[in-house]
Amino acid sequence: MRIAFIGCGVMGEAMIKGILGRGLVKPEDIIANDIDPARLSAVSQGYGISASANGRQAMAGSEVVVLAIKPQNLREVMEDLKNPPKDQLFLSIVAGASIATIKEGLGHKPVVRAMPNTPAQIGEGITVWTASGEVAQSQREMARSILGALGREIYVGDEKYIDMATAVSGSGPGYIFLIIEALIDAAVGVGLPQQMAGELVVETVLGAARLAQATEKPPAELRDMVASPGGTTAAGLLQLEEGGLRELFARAVTAAYERAKTLGIK
Ligand SMILES: NC(=O)c1ccc[n+]([C@@H]2O[C@H](COP(=O)([O-])OP(=O)(O)OC[C@H]3O[C@@H](n4cnc5c(N)ncnc54)[C@H](OP(=O)(O)O)[C@@H]3O)[C@@H](O)[C@H]2O)c1
Repeated sequence: MRIAFIGCGVMGEAMIKGILGRGLVKPEDIIANDIDPARLSAVSQGYGISASANGRQAMAGSEVVVLAIKPQNLREVMEDLKNPPKDQLFLSIVAGASIATIKEGLGHKPVVRAMPNTPAQIGEGITVWTASGEVAQSQREMARSILGALGREIYVGDEKYIDMATAVSGSGPGYIFLIIEALIDAAVGVGLPQQMAGELVVETVLGAARLAQATEKPPAELRDMVASPGGTTAAGLLQLEEGGLRELFARAVTAAYERAKTLGIK
């Protein structure tokens, strides 16, 4: 399978790294394209993949063309790549861009729309995806194998879930990194050395996530297991509840969801 990447920024590179890390394809089966020559040569040399500064040249001969540019650049890219060969699969990760927009912009029907996240670069991502009715079964399998190389993938029949997932799992690593940063600062604040604080916090986040995954218990039950009445955790949790943490997350996810919906390139 030959894959072209149109846009090799943060997410394009994360996908290239994830795909190569899993050995899904060889470096020579990936061709990169980016408007920024320095970026293009850094990514192509860094991963030993081919490169072309011309989008149409990059997509020629590729079974899958990944659109990994920012929403504001999608229009110009679709103009450039308009009317591609009928048997190519376009896989877009552009936040907010609907399948209808991409089909119309490219004059092309087989389109997969996916929302990965940055842990894809170490194969620990989670991707929610859907496909237009014109995507052949073999193309679905190609999309599934590419997205599966980035971590877990979840197919949804209804496209409306993609914007919702964008606000949760697409943006989610950003929320978690802020939590990690704030916890480390707080740990240092009570006197822990920086290095130790970092290790404690990252391992705690990892361990708690793995425990939730392994036990499949409701988070409230897992939380109660930590918080004995009148104990230390209860004292800490009270501050978080009084500070409005739940309300803040509700606002954050709603704001991200609304933004994803309005990013849609008309
Ligand atoms: N970052 C995430 O966590 C994440 C997660 C899921 C989905 N996404 C989606 O992935 C897409 C890419 O995001 P990103 O964070 O990777 O953005 P990014 O780092 O800005 O990467 C986009 C790259 O595309 C280049 N580019 C711009 N116009 C181009 C053109 N006409 N032809 C070829 N390349 C062009 C940009 O170059 P310049 O910088 O010179 O403009 C940049 O190197 C977005 O649509 C975003 O919604 C991102």
